[in-house]
Amino acid sequence: MGNGNINYCHEENEVRTLIWDRASLKLIDQRKLPFKEEYVVCNTCREVADAISDMVVRGAPAIGVTAGYGVALASLEFNGDGRDKFISYIKDSIKVLSKTRPTAVNLFWALGRMEKVLDCSKNLKLDEIKINLAKEAEKIERQDLNINFKIGENGKKIFDRYKNKIKILTHCNAGALATSGYGTAIGVIRSLDREGKIEKVIVDETRPCLQGARLTSWELYKEKIPFHIITDNMAGYFMSKGEIDTVIVGADRVSLNGDTANKIGTLGLSIMAKYYSIPFYIAAPISTIDTSIESGKYIPIEQRGENEVREVMGTKIIPEYMPVKNPAFDVTPCGNITAIITEKGVIEPPFKENIKKIVTSADNTDKETGADKR
Ligand code: MRU
Repeated sequence: MGNGNINYCHEENEVRTLIWDRASLKLIDQRKLPFKEEYVVCNTCREVADAISDMVVRGAPAIGVTAGYGVALASLEFNGDGRDKFISYIKDSIKVLSKTRPTAVNLFWALGRMEKVLDCSKNLKLDEIKINLAKEAEKIERQDLNINFKIGENGKKIFDRYKNKIKILTHCNAGALATSGYGTAIGVIRSLDREGKIEKVIVDETRPCLQGARLTSWELYKEKIPFHIITDNMAGYFMSKGEIDTVIVGADRVSLNGDTANKIGTLGLSIMAKYYSIPFYIAAPISTIDTSIESGKYIPIEQRGENEVREVMGTKIIPEYMPVKNPAFDVTPCGNITAIITEKGVIEPPFKENIKKIVTSADNTDKETGADKR
């Protein structure tokens, strides 16, 4: 492994984030982890949309892959007649899926790919279009797995010059659970661990939904990677004590200038890391880069329900009469980011120039090889 051309496969006994059987989509219920490993079965596009909104499945790449299968399921659900009706049914389903979560651009990117297949298949028989949609969703999943593995390999190389084992802080969950498998930020950690280079991962609990404490730690525990969990307000303490060599997080949307939306709390970490001169890395696929927006101020930030703040794992900690706010993401300015690790290479500042270069070269390579965009 390690060669960019090698396909990465799921490992035996790996707990899978999503399982597609060409009739339904099974999603591990991430709201119940780490206490219960249960799957939610989605038979319809509506069920897929609800699973994304309710965070049964979450994490930018996993949301994109899931939405792709949502479109495939919509096509299987259709039992009317007539091409036009079918096409408008699928387009409506794409609209429903696009309303589920606004920040992760991978959702819109994957839906765009599905819509393109639909538009290019207009002259085919309905059964053939259905097959093409399912195949495209499967391809998105397969490609995502390989991309994560490449991100891991590219990220690992950054740390070649580190002589000692590394102490890494991560926030939220950018692991196998947030993707088709392997993970982005956790993918880098996995790749480093396989070379014996991890001393410890410091896992931010990530209030309000605790993706760090519940999901990242669960993945690291299964992989036997050493870690400890801290509450979000402890990160500065550990940085000040020299207990953190680097921060690696995922992303939900990167704008053209490199500003990056990620789980709420990432911005604060980046400010503290800059203060203590700790390198701060984003690990994300090219599909998370939204070159249509110039800077982070145009990234839509999801505002989620109050109960996520009022409660911890179903137990009320704030009475109803007290007001709360719940923005799910914040934007880290590009000036706080050391580099962005992608499947096509590591992007360093100046981000705008280098993002343009890498996105264009990714487009060209794909044209030359006949592969899909990315
Ligand atoms: O609200 P979530 O759990 O979907 O937020 C997830 C994150 O912020 C992740 O860091 C991001 O999507 C990258 S996942 C590879």
